[in-house]
Amino acid sequence: MALGGIALCFVLLFTLTISQCRKSDGIEQKDSSLPEGWEWKKAKAEDLTQGSLVLVNRDYGYDPNLPQTVSVYDYKSGSYLVKDVALSVREDTMKALNSWLDAFAAESGKTDVIIVAGWRSYDYQVQLYQNAVNTQGQAHADAYLALPGHSEHHTGLAVDLDTYDPESDTCGGFAGDGDYSWAIEHAWEYGFIQRYPPQKSAITGINYESWHFRYVGLPHAYVMKTENLCLEEYIEYLRSFPFSSEHLHVCCLGKSYELYFCPKDHLVVPTFGNYTISGNNVDGFIVTIEQP
Ligand code: DAL
Ligand code: ZN
Repeated sequence: MALGGIALCFVLLFTLTISQCRKSDGIEQKDSSLPEGWEWKKAKAEDLTQGSLVLVNRDYGYDPNLPQTVSVYDYKSGSYLVKDVALSVREDTMKALNSWLDAFAAESGKTDVIIVAGWRSYDYQVQLYQNAVNTQGQAHADAYLALPGHSEHHTGLAVDLDTYDPESDTCGGFAGDGDYSWAIEHAWEYGFIQRYPPQKSAITGINYESWHFRYVGLPHAYVMKTENLCLEEYIEYLRSFPFSSEHLHVCCLGKSYELYFCPKDHLVVPTFGNYTISGNNVDGFIVTIEQP
């Protein structure tokens, strides 16, 4: 795989001496010696569902009751609109959404983008899916709607964009063309990806949705954009950077990051410094260290 502007550095090679195992709330932890500056961290089974890199698709479902969300209406900036006062997203997604659409409005002078979907309950996804089956047929429903329990909208990390015309009181769709192409082109700078790109339908299982954006954060959105990876591919790519081998080093927007993957029963973190952990909702964790 081409690595573009991403510098790969050899960081750690050492022998893990597994001496003992213990159980911690469902996930087995390994006790073994680690190089100075690193430590084992206990992880619970539910931690796999936390973080901005959870993979949700036909194969991996998500409990809609897990995320804590905030009202977009209450927290949004004045640069865009929201369809409904009840529409909500996760707080990290909310902050990034404001930054992204503020930048878009400043660039384009347009403030007619409207958020028409955020977090969804299981029952609402049932309603949407059934309605699509009834009105447009099973094949169309499956091409554009996730099965209930398998929608990214259950995570609070996804938003659907549209455009609103107050004169006709109608929405015109979000094709992302013309002035709006800036929003797609620059989404990564704010941690967003277009989750269902046209050329990745066979992998994502969903047809191109120009309007559906997913927050993954930085530097992940940057790597996915520069390496042309959809989320399924990126989660797999990160498995090739285990803690005990080469780590992935990424520079973007003036910051440097070090990333590695840990299987769910071998979570290792630095003993100091600024880092985040995200479960992948499948089998492990991605640790992202922001370097000083
Ligand atoms: N439209 C996306 C795939 C969903 O229903 O979650
Ligand atoms: Zn959507």
